[in-house]
Amino acid sequence: MQDRFTFAETLIQEAGALALGYFRDLSSLTVKSKGPQDVVSEADLNTELLIKRRLSEAFPEDAFLGEETGATAFAPGQGIWVVDPIDGTQPFVSGLSSWCISIAFVQAGKVDFGMVYAPVRGELFKGGAGRPATLNGQPVRRHAGKSLREGITGTGYNTRLGLDAFLRPFEGLLKAGGMFYRDGSGALMLCDVAAGRLLGYIEPHINSWDCLGAVGVLQAAGLKVNDFLADDGLTKGNAIVAGTPEVFDDLLAIAAM
Ligand code: IPD
Ligand code: CA
Ligand code: CA
Repeated sequence: MQDRFTFAETLIQEAGALALGYFRDLSSLTVKSKGPQDVVSEADLNTELLIKRRLSEAFPEDAFLGEETGATAFAPGQGIWVVDPIDGTQPFVSGLSSWCISIAFVQAGKVDFGMVYAPVRGELFKGGAGRPATLNGQPVRRHAGKSLREGITGTGYNTRLGLDAFLRPFEGLLKAGGMFYRDGSGALMLCDVAAGRLLGYIEPHINSWDCLGAVGVLQAAGLKVNDFLADDGLTKGNAIVAGTPEVFDDLLAIAAM
């Protein structure tokens, strides 16, 4: 059997090339609204269909969960691929560079590995259990800041929870002397934590396909991440809090506000 990690490495770049083709011809793209500030295009669906088809051909024994097509039937203990074909769809359709493809492989309740590919930036993040965390093949190094004052922290916003749930982290961060940063892709901002660009990341609710690719990278990098998969986070989503060991407890406290 082929090695899943090696297979995913090639596949995520093939998917990235497909999505990039749509991005280079945005005026031809049909964009549909899924709700306030939530859009989707045929680029999202077709990229997911490519990934799903390749995986089911190579690893028919594995399950699949993707944002656009949902989950295949899966049994406890079965390996499952968790895919966001385009994370950062809003920046994507706006012609901005902060979007990516995210692929994770989860087995026995743990992220075995994850990868995130941002085609416009030319950045491929990879990492997993027993594997190093890398950016374009080079080891990543975490942020040197010792407190929330010494760097910036990624935050996410979506309409799944009420507005207050999102305003509290903003308030908590600013009151702690920190600063928020949002580029519209949770997966990329989480990888930016692994790469030492951000101190941490906090979002009151995120879906598994948005974050598990990056969680594989963060865990491999020795960064702290909350137990996202607890309470059925895989299918229902959960809060996500990630950061350097120096700021993680402060971020947890802000998330609990
Ligand atoms: C969204 C982005 C955003 C995050 C949301 C996600 P999408 O995913 O990751 O940064 O705050 O929670 O839903 O819609 O661009 O795939
Ligand atoms: Ca997403
Ligand atoms: Ca998406």
